[in-house]
Amino acid sequence: MKVKVAAKAGFCFGVKRAVDMARKCLHDRAGPVYTLGPLIHNNQVTEALAREGIAAVNDVDEIKGPGTVIIRSHGVAPGVLDRAEQKGLKLVDATCPFVRKVQQTVRDLVQQDIPVVVVGDPEHPEVQGIVGWSGNRAIVVADARQAEKLGKIPSLGIVAQTTQRQDNFDAVVKVFKDSGSRVQVFNTICLATAERQKEALELAQQVDAVLVLGGKNSANTAKLAQICRTAGKPVYRVETAEEIDFAWLKGLRTVGVTAGASTPGWIIEEVCCRMMDFEEANKEEVMENQVEEQ
Ligand code: F3S
Repeated sequence: MKVKVAAKAGFCFGVKRAVDMARKCLHDRAGPVYTLGPLIHNNQVTEALAREGIAAVNDVDEIKGPGTVIIRSHGVAPGVLDRAEQKGLKLVDATCPFVRKVQQTVRDLVQQDIPVVVVGDPEHPEVQGIVGWSGNRAIVVADARQAEKLGKIPSLGIVAQTTQRQDNFDAVVKVFKDSGSRVQVFNTICLATAERQKEALELAQQVDAVLVLGGKNSANTAKLAQICRTAGKPVYRVETAEEIDFAWLKGLRTVGVTAGASTPGWIIEEVCCRMMDFEEANKEEVMENQVEEQ
């Protein structure tokens, strides 16, 4: 069985930067260090960081006393930064520069009194942060159907959650353009996401099945799996190598491996090792069967 790993799999630039900043912070700073929400959507990494001494809190108000708060790559609303500063907490802002760009675009549009539409998931922390930078004035639209319900908005700016699918973003833009709205389009989809999605689809088309690695709560991992399924091949989502069921691999000639942007390289390596374990177990089984037949 051949294993093909997507060239662009695992940690993206923004997530790697956030994890590196968190570790540097632990090393440099005296006093407790917190992250606002899990630093990344990967339990294995957040558990490792917790063991190293970084505690995750859901709100700055949970922090009693001094300390340092790391803002994760998704970013937060400006009001959250203000509250942390008012409490005397030190800030390490690991907002991904690509997310920061969306926040600044939204803020600039609102300052010009231009209505803003964010194409994305309203429940996602990145989107909630972006909406915060619009003074809570931006409208979040998940897809073309929701956009149709809004009808014509005479003039508007459209941005995307960085992990949006290009086709979904394009479809929403088309709805507004077709309605006669004057639209300023800011394609803020992150290249890392687009590259991973394109490679995942190409990979899925070449193999018999795909393993998609990443946190169960990771939106970009879910999207990778969804894209791979469109190739009509079996797709299995796992967080760790131990979750791989050898029964999935029986009879396959090639297996593709891709991973969400929050998956560290060591998990990808462990998965490849587990495939080698399967190969060994499979060989032994074949040999035992041959002996029995003789
Ligand atoms: Fe940043 Fe793109 Fe990653 S927005 S956090 S580099 S997926």
